[in-house]
Amino acid sequence: MNLTPSSYLDSLGGYAFAEVDKAKEKIIAERGSDYLIDFGVGDPTDPTPAVAREEAAVHALRNPDEGYPSYEGEEFFRHAVAGWFKRRFDVELDPESEITATLGSKQSVFSLPMAFVDPGDVVLIPDPGYPPYTTGAKQRGGQPVYMPLKPENNFLPDLDAIDPKTADKASLLWLNSPNNPTTAVIPPDFYRQAIAFCRQHNILLCSDEAYSEMYYEAGPTPTSLFEIDGGRDVGLVIHSLSKRSNMTNYRVGFVAGKNELLQHFKEVQTNMHSGQAQILQAAAAAALTDEQHVQEMRQTYGQRREILLPYLQQAGFRDVYASAGFYVWARTPESTGSADLCKLLLEEAGVNTTPGAALAQQPENGSDFVRFALIQNQNRTEEAGKRLANLDLSEVS
Ligand SMILES: Cc1ncc(COP(=O)(O)O)c(C=O)c1O
Repeated sequence: MNLTPSSYLDSLGGYAFAEVDKAKEKIIAERGSDYLIDFGVGDPTDPTPAVAREEAAVHALRNPDEGYPSYEGEEFFRHAVAGWFKRRFDVELDPESEITATLGSKQSVFSLPMAFVDPGDVVLIPDPGYPPYTTGAKQRGGQPVYMPLKPENNFLPDLDAIDPKTADKASLLWLNSPNNPTTAVIPPDFYRQAIAFCRQHNILLCSDEAYSEMYYEAGPTPTSLFEIDGGRDVGLVIHSLSKRSNMTNYRVGFVAGKNELLQHFKEVQTNMHSGQAQILQAAAAAALTDEQHVQEMRQTYGQRREILLPYLQQAGFRDVYASAGFYVWARTPESTGSADLCKLLLEEAGVNTTPGAALAQQPENGSDFVRFALIQNQNRTEEAGKRLANLDLSEVS
């Protein structure tokens, strides 16, 4: 057979972390796996709370319900989401029509364009940003147009810089708060601006709120798009249990919004998969009713942040951003690009990080930054900090 893979695959580009993976393997072979301190991938390493894992998932497993699950999520799950949304944001969602379960938010981010984007449509995407905003748009033949996130704009997109003709061709605009990787939290005023912009140009505003529960006592508390007047008229909210409850392994999330918008996404879902396993929805619903583990999670990340930040400043990072979420976005010393710096941190200190350039579709939007995911415990974070501070990066050229 001489099969040619689709041109879509070409458009995806190579695997950005191949080089890093090789370098990691080398370090492990030379120094052992304990030596490597890995802040690379944003995947929580703390356990899923017992209330989800043991009480709910195990119970559901012992009481099986045969047959396919519901496409839009079991009633109990949608009610748990609505209850949480009301408690957290004081926003009422109708569990019958305004919530649909997803297989984690990556699935929804990737497939939302199937409902709203036609070939040639513009999709407005913050850059740096979560790669499926781009791959999902391209999969529909959409045209990604990037909105750079720069420190001088508090890492908010500059909507005034978007050519009105481009905006008129757009069908979808992504926002992500707290932002991966910049950690910025979108303030209510910016949401108001984005709502007006989307209304003016007839664009669906997709608000990725996967990190909304990860914030620090001293920092801003993230707002949902739906708390803002008009947000529900122009947008959908994308959410996930992955980060809030250490449930990346469970693959449960949801999309919420007015039925007149959500129904189109639901139509995609019914054609794409046959629902999320009830056992996993039971775990997610239980997690949503428990706030204690979320508060503990916030304290844990807060402590790691407190440990790491001073060391990064000592090491010579120019600016260090860690407003919310569980990342640190650190600006490299003047003369060093992010890829070279990450290589150096790995080779000289055994500390793995993600180069900002790999997180940006237009490398210049990330090449001055390195991302740390705060997934290492306090001792390992401290050890990494000491090793980094000893490097004195201000000397690196
Ligand atoms: C901004 C953002 N959105 C969504 C996701 C997807 O999370 P999940 O598919 O585990 O729900 C991630 C994962 O890292 C992310 O960074």
